[in-house]
Amino acid sequence: MDSQARLAVVTGGSRGLGYEVAKSLIANGDRVVIVSQDIARAKKAANELGCESQCVDLADLDATRKTFELIQSKYGVPQVLVLAHGVMSEKMSKTLRTTTQEWRRVMAINLDSVFVAINTICPAMAQARDGRVIIFTACLGRMSGPGNAGGLAPYRISKAGVNALVRNLAHETGLGARGFLVDATCPNHTRTDMGGPDAPRSVEEGAKTAIWLATREFDPAKDKTGLFWEDRKTIDW
Ligand SMILES: NC(=O)c1ccc[n+]([C@@H]2O[C@H](COP(=O)([O-])OP(=O)(O)OC[C@H]3O[C@@H](n4cnc5c(N)ncnc54)[C@H](OP(=O)(O)O)[C@@H]3O)[C@@H](O)[C@H]2O)c1
Repeated sequence: MDSQARLAVVTGGSRGLGYEVAKSLIANGDRVVIVSQDIARAKKAANELGCESQCVDLADLDATRKTFELIQSKYGVPQVLVLAHGVMSEKMSKTLRTTTQEWRRVMAINLDSVFVAINTICPAMAQARDGRVIIFTACLGRMSGPGNAGGLAPYRISKAGVNALVRNLAHETGLGARGFLVDATCPNHTRTDMGGPDAPRSVEEGAKTAIWLATREFDPAKDKTGLFWEDRKTIDW
């Protein structure tokens, strides 16, 4: 990897939206490390993309912390962290119907691992005053607008938690004034394994706002961070 290039760590990089983000960042000249679970899929993706890979079950929070420590010691402090992993909850997962096991599975992967990844690797990014974090959330996790009418409780609430984490962390780190940016983005319904073949958006369309957030010029005097982005525009939480 070119040691002069920015380092970007992309979770969920083995397929879907994370793969698309990794591909674009590599084309942009960044060094990329993808993080995912399935070893064979990760190796295939890394070979296709020409990048490094690390495998971990992000539901295992101790293993997640060790993996992000390893990434930092092996590759250095990243300038970009894109958290594009995630799982959908089971169809019958209304609050009164879901199980503790399903609740914990989705919360661990979609929310707890986001905290652990950030808590492990972002202190050095914030200290370097050169870091941007982009997290894939979902409109299903919003507290306003269409689509927040119940159902899929573990998924929706995990994404609402991600939204709160982004807002909280942005305030804790000076809302971009100290060179550390953190934003949430919803790709909208996209044709991936999660979104299914009939979703209206291509992966290119679904990934483009995250790629823009990872590469945009940022002037703290006029640009904003700590927000929820869709199609490069901010929307209410
Ligand atoms: N697609 C949509 O319509 C849509 C809409 C709104 C929001 N989103 C959000 O966008 C993000 C990306 O979604 P996608 O559609 O690209 O999903 P996807 O195609 O299903 O890919 C999921 C990715 O997450 C990784 N992953 C899942 N569980 C993991 C675990 N326990 N440990 C490590 N890695 C794990 C997978 O790795 P493996 O390959 O190793 O399994 C894979 O790389 C997610 O946060 C999702 O909630 C998607």
